[in-house]
Amino acid sequence: MDPTGTAGTCSATTVATVRGVAEVVVEEVGDVTEELVDAFARLVPQLSSSAPPPGTRELQAMLESPCTTVFVARLEGVIVGTLTLVVFRIPTGVRARIEDVVVLDAARGRGAGDALSRAALVKAADLGARNVDLSSRPSREAANRLYQRLGFETRETNTYRYVL
Ligand SMILES: CC(C)(COP(=O)(O)OP(=O)(O)OC[C@H]1O[C@@H](n2cnc3c(N)ncnc32)[C@H](O)[C@@H]1OP(=O)(O)O)[C@@H](O)C(=O)NCCC(=O)NCCS
Repeated sequence: MDPTGTAGTCSATTVATVRGVAEVVVEEVGDVTEELVDAFARLVPQLSSSAPPPGTRELQAMLESPCTTVFVARLEGVIVGTLTLVVFRIPTGVRARIEDVVVLDAARGRGAGDALSRAALVKAADLGARNVDLSSRPSREAANRLYQRLGFETRETNTYRYVL
């Protein structure tokens, strides 16, 4: 099923290269590999101290979901960052959200977060979304600077969470 009415690619595709050949390369992930599982094992603890990293089964479920696109950023061939784009149709249109953006500490400040976000914006537009939502705690200063630099604007809305 295609959630938006626009079929997307399922293979690993290089979607953006920035700042020269040896710099950041962003790919849309197509398959779960050992490299991917290992990369998430390193990345997720730098995003959340409570969430366990996804294993093969969880990553497979993400890739099989028609609503989800997982991007990775590579520097010199090594996965150093990830971003997940979720695009889904609701009665009022196609909605898109950016989730779980993280770049390895040692690789920050080289444009990986920027390149991942730009790739997600292009993909969301390709899938028919007219805007892209995300949330970021104010304490995440680098992330908030990144999103504002890219053109994200604060929405005046209350964000709620019901804990199950
Ligand atoms: C937020 C985060 C993903 C940004 O990743 P990043 O790869 O460092 O992002 P970028 O490199 O694109 O931008 C970071 C800074 O490097 C600068 N930069 C980017 N490319 C550069 C380059 N080639 N040379 C020098 N500086 C560069 C940017 O201008 C930016 O500067 P600023 O923070 O002073 O405004 C990263 O800090 C992170 O993983 N943080 C922890 C997890 C987190 O908070 N995630 C967001 C959840 S909402």
